[in-house]
Order: sequence, then C-alpha cells, then structure tokens
Amino acid sequence: MPQHRIAVLPGDGIGPEVMGEARKVIEVVAARFDFAISSEEFLVGGAALDATGNTTPLPEETLNGCESSDAILFGSVGGPKWEELPPDIQPERGALLPLRKHFGLFANLRPGVCHPSLIDASPVKNSLIPDGFNVLCVRELTGGIYFGSPKERREENGEEVAIDTMVYRRSEIERIAHVAFQAAQGRRKKLCSVDKANVLQNSRLWRETVVEVAKGYPDVELSHLYVDNAAMQLIRYAPDYDVIVTGNLFGDILSDEMAMISGSLGMLPSASLGEPDEDGRNFGLYEPSGGSAPDIAGQGIANPIAQILSLAMLLRYSLAETAAADSIEAAVEKAIGDGFRTGDIFSGAEGEKQVGTAGMGAAIVERL
Ligand code: IPM
Ligand code: MG
Repeated sequence: MPQHRIAVLPGDGIGPEVMGEARKVIEVVAARFDFAISSEEFLVGGAALDATGNTTPLPEETLNGCESSDAILFGSVGGPKWEELPPDIQPERGALLPLRKHFGLFANLRPGVCHPSLIDASPVKNSLIPDGFNVLCVRELTGGIYFGSPKERREENGEEVAIDTMVYRRSEIERIAHVAFQAAQGRRKKLCSVDKANVLQNSRLWRETVVEVAKGYPDVELSHLYVDNAAMQLIRYAPDYDVIVTGNLFGDILSDEMAMISGSLGMLPSASLGEPDEDGRNFGLYEPSGGSAPDIAGQGIANPIAQILSLAMLLRYSLAETAAADSIEAAVEKAIGDGFRTGDIFSGAEGEKQVGTAGMGAAIVERL
C-alpha cells in the first residue's frame, strides 16, 4: 500500500475551519483508494506568531515538517491582528513567500472555473458567459519583481526612495513556459502569454523566450497580450481563454480578477510546484486562492470547496493518486449539481440548499 506523508498548515482566519473539512475528505479517499496518508499539522502565519511571541510566522519546526513531507496542504494566513508587525514577519511576507522560495515552487497553477450552474454568482452578465468558463492561469512564482534585488528604501538627494527590481532570466521564463505549454496540451491547446513588452525590457525577453519554446509545441496555438489589455479581455469574454502564462506580479493581479469573475474565491484551489522528479512526482504547496477572510472566520459559514479542491490537486500532482483526485472533483461537482450552496454561492434559485462549512463538507463526503 502506498504511504504518503503531507504537512498540513491550517494557518489563520477561515483556514482551520475549511481545513477541518479537507481532513475528513483525506480519511475517506485514503480508505477508498487504498493508500495510507499521514498528515501532521504545523503552525504557520499569525497562529505561529501568537505561539512564538511574535518571533516568526514560519517556525523551524514547520519548515522541517514540510521538508520531510511529500507535499504541503496550506490553509491561509494573515489578519488584522498581525498587520502592524514589521513587514518581514507579517504572515504573508514572512511565511508564504519564504515557503515558495525555499522549495523552489516556481509554477503556480490557478484554475479560474465558473461552473455553468453558478453563473449567477459571477458579476459578469449571464448573457456573456452562458456556459461559464474554465481558464487556467499559470503564474511564475519565484522570480520577477517579488524577489529581484535591490529591494530597498534609501535616501537620494535628501529624499526617500523605494526600489523594487524586476528581473527575469531566460531559464526562468523557459521553465514556466514549458509548464504552461504542457498544461495547454492537456486542455484546449490554446496558450496566451501576457506581458508588457511595449514598455519593459524583461517582458521583451519573456515574449522572445515564449516564442522560442513554442517551437517545441506546434499543436498549441500561442497568442500574446499586453497585461492591461489582458485585464480587459478577461472581463469582456473569458471563455475565449484556455491557459494564460505570465510573470509573478501580473499573475498575482490577473488571477484575482479571474477569481472574481468566476463568482467566488471560495471555489478556487491552487497549486505551487517545483521541478518534477524522475517518476513525474512533484513536491508542491496547495492552497485556496482566497485569503483568510477574517470577517467571516469562526462562524462556520466559509466555503470549504477551494480547500478540498486544493487537496485534489495535491493528490494529483504530488502523490500521483489520480483516481482519488478525480473522485473528489466529481463529488464537488455533484454536491453543487445537487444544489448545495454556502452563502458565497447561494442565489436563492429553486432547488438550492444553503449550508455552512460542515454541511458542504458532509455533502461532498457523502458523494465520494
Ligand atoms: C497570492 C497572494 C500573495 C502574493 C501575497 C499574500 C504575498 O496575494 O498568493 O496571490 O502576492 O503572491
Ligand atoms: Mg494575490
């Protein structure tokens, strides 16, 4: 029987609540698909700051726990309680970014799916997206302006200046382009690369490199958009897009836009992956695309679907438990099809049943 080991980092806000539902799903699929999985919990984010007297949001023990696992299932971090701390130890900058960098998780996959039965939850007119849409955003995650140096504040001619540096190396662009082309091959074979090549040097390198890599994928139709235009086109007609590949900062912004037009952040999972090993297995960090939602934390009303679908991605990419991943995705579809709705996706239409976090979790578990 395969033995897997995952590190579970629930974090803050709604993280622990939605993680509770994902853990129930883990138990059920492990039994049903005949594998053993040990899942140990570790502190991260504000929870870790509280436990360490505001020393670190990413304790050594958590990092070690992640290192000895096959994958990380992450909840969410941050909240008003920790916003006034020095930037370097704030939950987002002090935990999430270092985790991505430490494990070389350069490829961030963010599916933006608007389920046809949930088009009422989208702010886009129903008439524009009658069948919903399904766009995969592939965001470069360990380079670009997030990590380039210098990154500092200093004084120049008696005035304060702040500097961030946007750097992309050809090799960084190549590897993310390969991930995106391969993802497109498994889908509708369309890839749109997003840059700002009319202004930025590193976007010119980005575009040249993507065009070069495209030669190895003649079956994929490649297009290019400037990021400002991409922001418009996604709202105008998202169903036109299949896979989008872009740099760290543009991907951060466009993936939030995509999440919004898909209806609810509470539905969208994400995977952050490094280079696969020889057996095609991949260490990764899996987390909901949404944040810790402190405004609704502790009320038992958060949508657990993003966390549960993140678990499905973990099973697919890091543990190669494809059947289990398929069954979770099917169970989620079925629960939605049967009318179960948390508040964020409830429209009041006939046949809808409003449920809380645990109710949605139970509806999914029953359908596994
Ligand atoms: C995201 C988040 C993070 C990012 C923040 C929390 C550092 O917005 O995962 O999209 O900017 O990458
Ligand atoms: Mg973001």
